[in-house]
Amino acid sequence: MDIQLNHQPIESISTDALAFVAFDKETPSHPALAPLSATGDLPTKLYETATFHNVVGIATKRVIAIGGGKREKFGTYELRRAAGVAVRLLKPKSLANMTFVPDGVADPGAAVQASVEGALVADFDPGRYKTDGRADDKHVGAFHVAAAATAETRAALERGRIIGDSQNFTRDLVNEPGNYMTPTILAERARAMAAEVGLECEILDRARCEELKMGSFLSVSLGSEEPPKFIHLRYNPETAVTDRVLGLVGKGVTFDTGGISIKPADSMDLMKYDMAGGAAMLGAMRAIALLKPAVRIQCFVPATENMPDGKAQKPGDVRIAMSGKSIEIINTDAEGRLILADALHYARLQGCTHLIDAATLTGAISVALGKVNVGVFTNDEAYQERFLKCAKTAGEKMWPMPMDDDYREQIKGMVADLLNTGGRYGGAITAAWFLKEFVADTPWIHLDIAGCAWIDDNKAFIAKGSSGIAVRSLIELAMGFEKS
Ligand code: BES
Ligand code: MN
Ligand code: ZN
Repeated sequence: MDIQLNHQPIESISTDALAFVAFDKETPSHPALAPLSATGDLPTKLYETATFHNVVGIATKRVIAIGGGKREKFGTYELRRAAGVAVRLLKPKSLANMTFVPDGVADPGAAVQASVEGALVADFDPGRYKTDGRADDKHVGAFHVAAAATAETRAALERGRIIGDSQNFTRDLVNEPGNYMTPTILAERARAMAAEVGLECEILDRARCEELKMGSFLSVSLGSEEPPKFIHLRYNPETAVTDRVLGLVGKGVTFDTGGISIKPADSMDLMKYDMAGGAAMLGAMRAIALLKPAVRIQCFVPATENMPDGKAQKPGDVRIAMSGKSIEIINTDAEGRLILADALHYARLQGCTHLIDAATLTGAISVALGKVNVGVFTNDEAYQERFLKCAKTAGEKMWPMPMDDDYREQIKGMVADLLNTGGRYGGAITAAWFLKEFVADTPWIHLDIAGCAWIDDNKAFIAKGSSGIAVRSLIELAMGFEKS
């Protein structure tokens, strides 16, 4: 999708469609659109749409009104989605071009960026393996944002394009089925992306991970025919203005059967999305390389399958993590924390001064927060506060979770230091506590994205399947990270 600013007066714009936001109990501010409210046909509810043809005084033949709901409750979060609604409504028509009027957000840069992000995210559809030739062959050719071209709006458009494309890069990786997204393939995709945008890339193979004594990570891969890969990317700008090094760590389980503690068959297919945290970090790194913040950033994605087999690890087995801590494997399905334990430790050894991880870690986070908010855990309140602001700006819903010392009791080992599960209660919190055992005093944030990384049904502004959650917030964090 081609993206441009269109500074012409909207009545003389002549793209194939003109989409604008209609607010509840308001007459459109533009004189040529104002008469549309007279018939009472303008949508009042958020994201509802109405199409008008041959509107007097408007050159474009097709005018789309998108409900903005109450203006007081409308912001960049809603504007991003409204742009998406317009694109997904018009996509089936394969229009050559369309124009979106980004109303309701005062800051022109923020409005343009959000519109572009929303449009790109909406343009993305799964369906790569359909053979009828019709899957995702319909697109809007060009998306115009009706805004004056200033240095600010031009930069915002470019930012929106990079961020939207990077979120879709992540979604594409996550939608891939397990047979087309093995640890080896994920590593190759990371390597190709790194080469394209100019990041350093190192793939640690099994032998190297053995040398490094990543006993916790490697234990998960024992049952799989697919070799594990540990992906390490570096963004090392000469312009770095601080000694701080941000470490992005993401869970890369390319398929999670549960292992010997095998999962039920119902919905097991969805466990192809168990690398969504790793994919989010790769998408964020892609954007970082293109947006070039003045701070060093590294990325770590331990990638493996979790399979049952004669060689697989068994419940009750004890493993020694790279940090030296011993772990009783109570449940082989609690594998995410096992691979992240070594990745977090390795990230610290590589010089990261601040860590953030993302993982589809527990079903329990969906019980706690549903599929609306990502669970945020930390050992550093100020760092978390900063990140939650970034999430807000980026339009991703995230909610802080408690980490009282009391929960630590649940993962105390009997024959070893730690248990890899903490029982039924507070499952997302005890999982976070397990990770905390491997970050020492390094400021750290953990995002449990299990509830938000997958969208079960098509929505007006985004296709079903992987969401690309956390990518935008991570980019926002990275872009401000040079400021202490
Ligand atoms: N990948 C799953 C968590 C998950 C569940 C992600 C549903 C997305 C949707 C994780 O590896 C897992 O199996 N967690 C277990 C932990 C339990 C055994 C302590 C869970 O949540 O049931
Ligand atoms: Mn699991
Ligand atoms: Zn898992």
